[in-house]
Amino acid sequence: MERVEKFLKEAGVYYLATIDGDQPRVRPFGTVNIFDGKLYIQTGKVKEVSKQLHSNPKAEICAFKDGDWLRVAGELVEDDRREARASMLDAYPDLRGMYNEDDGNTEVFYFKNATATFSSFTKAPETINF
Ligand SMILES: Cc1cc2nc3c(=O)[nH]c(=O)nc-3n(C[C@H](O)[C@H](O)[C@H](O)COP(=O)(O)O)c2cc1C
Repeated sequence: MERVEKFLKEAGVYYLATIDGDQPRVRPFGTVNIFDGKLYIQTGKVKEVSKQLHSNPKAEICAFKDGDWLRVAGELVEDDRREARASMLDAYPDLRGMYNEDDGNTEVFYFKNATATFSSFTKAPETINF
């Protein structure tokens, strides 16, 4: 899981796909943080992405860096603990310009039943489950 976090942080941007009825939706994201042994992302409850995850937690992210790409497929489950939100905002202090732990909007989701696959054109894929 640390390797996944490192790859995503170094890539800087990943693309998060969710399901909206029968329509896939995808957008750029950047936040990633390990807290309490789980891999988290951050968003705001006002966003469509949040509503999609609450109605269907199945999600996949993809990032590309230095010829390698990473996909993480699984479920994104909200963790409503204040300390989970605080850990994320502490990892991204700039986000505190827009979000805080107690604003009723900030939320964090962790990956459950996740399969991370590292791929490249030159090597066999490697899979990690967490
Ligand atoms: C490089 C980059 C990183 C981003 N990271 C995040 C993020 O970590 N969390 C977030 O909620 N929005 C992030 N955004 C903004 C979302 O992509 C944007 O709000 C998007 O419209 C949300 O998807 P939705 O419209 O389907 O709700 C980022 C945007 C960019 C360009």
